[in-house]
Amino acid sequence: MSQYFRITTLAASFIVLVFYGCKPVEKPVVKPAEPVNSFTVKGSVRELNLNPSASPEFPDREGKTEFISYCAICHSLKYISSQPDFPRKTWEAEVSKMVVKYHAPIDSVIAKKIVAYLVAVKGKK
Ligand code: HEC
Repeated sequence: MSQYFRITTLAASFIVLVFYGCKPVEKPVVKPAEPVNSFTVKGSVRELNLNPSASPEFPDREGKTEFISYCAICHSLKYISSQPDFPRKTWEAEVSKMVVKYHAPIDSVIAKKIVAYLVAVKGKK
């Protein structure tokens, strides 16, 4: 009797295992990029959706694309938005420091555009 019981239990466990094993893997839902930086929860991982065209704290004008693209490679743009307004000389020195000291891959043409953008949006009047 107990042997039948064991066999039945084994068979039941087998069926349960096969059933769960064959369940289709749920695909994580990836939302399309939203107009703000956001995250999608995938299990225990929060996948960041960085949207460079967002960053509403930085006004749209010439040089923004370069600024967003290059100045967020290593750190948050908060490093810049949290600074006070600086004169051109200070922004030039900052951008140059990022290139010389930290090896930011920014050539002189792009650096000029970024400085012009920073002076326009966070320049000391
Ligand atoms: C190659 C990596 C890299 C890139 C690209 C980069 N930075 Fe930085 N930046 C750093 C590091 C490293 C620090 C210092 C971080 C710290 O001390 O916590 C820093 C700090 C700063 C600070 C804080 C003040 C200071 O001097 O420490 C500002 C402002 C700043 N960066 C602006 C910029 C701007 C503007 C750009 C785009 C032109 C830029 N960064 C691109 C690496 C980079």
